[in-house]
Amino acid sequence: MPNPTAVAPLAKAPNHVAIIMDGNGRWAQARGRPRLFGHHAGARRVREVVEAAAGLGIRYLTIFAFSTENWKRTQVEVAGLMNLFRRYILHETRSLVENDVRVRFIGDRVKLDQKLIELMDELETLTETNDGIHLTIAINYGGRDEVARATKLLAEDVAAGKLAPADVDEETLPRYLDTRVLPDPDLVIRTSGEARISNFLLWQSAYAEYEFIDTLWPDFTAQELETLCQSYASRDRRYGGARA
Ligand code: IPE
Ligand code: IPE
Ligand code: MG
Repeated sequence: MPNPTAVAPLAKAPNHVAIIMDGNGRWAQARGRPRLFGHHAGARRVREVVEAAAGLGIRYLTIFAFSTENWKRTQVEVAGLMNLFRRYILHETRSLVENDVRVRFIGDRVKLDQKLIELMDELETLTETNDGIHLTIAINYGGRDEVARATKLLAEDVAAGKLAPADVDEETLPRYLDTRVLPDPDLVIRTSGEARISNFLLWQSAYAEYEFIDTLWPDFTAQELETLCQSYASRDRRYGGARA
């Protein structure tokens, strides 16, 4: 039987796709189930999407799992999500290692529990020599928080005399961001019908192409990713220049 998730490499795949995985709660509510049921269904979608992204020729995939604002949710939902992240890592490590996926985490770790931090560190280490798709998972990530933390680090270097204020330009700050080793996103996808970026990769997405689609994250498929990447290929990115 053909593999339903199999996709062919695209002639012009976006190098870096970032996804705001939204709509888990509504997906569960539509089924009369608790929100966490939707989060579990959403987590199960990730493997297929990572495999599809690699198959399409996408080199970097960054996914938004938990924002710095998501702590506003109930204690039950937050604890359930943290538990889900631990389970996801434990469950997926082997497949990620074997499939040559290079995993990184972005976001502020200070508010995460020690066990989760250890699992994140371990997964990063176990996959650091992998050379397939680069999967970056954003947990306790906020674009403004990231820029503020980066600015603090930059200010420390200035105070220590390692950096002159006159040398600070738009190439400098990104070297202090969590994403310092990643290229900027080419395509940002948000599921669930909301047309906002909710604090995701603010600096990095200055010239990204956006797709806001109605599908709720637990229903998102490899085919949909392929379709969005095909339409990306026909876009004319001008970066402020004139039309060719
Ligand atoms: C996205 O789904 C996952 C997280 C933000 C953790 P939501 O939980 O935001 O689902 P909706 O938007 O309420 O449907
Ligand atoms: C953005 O979704 C964060 C993640 C997908 C992790 P939210 O559901 O938190 O965003 P808002 O509240 O609708 O803006
Ligand atoms: Mg949401």
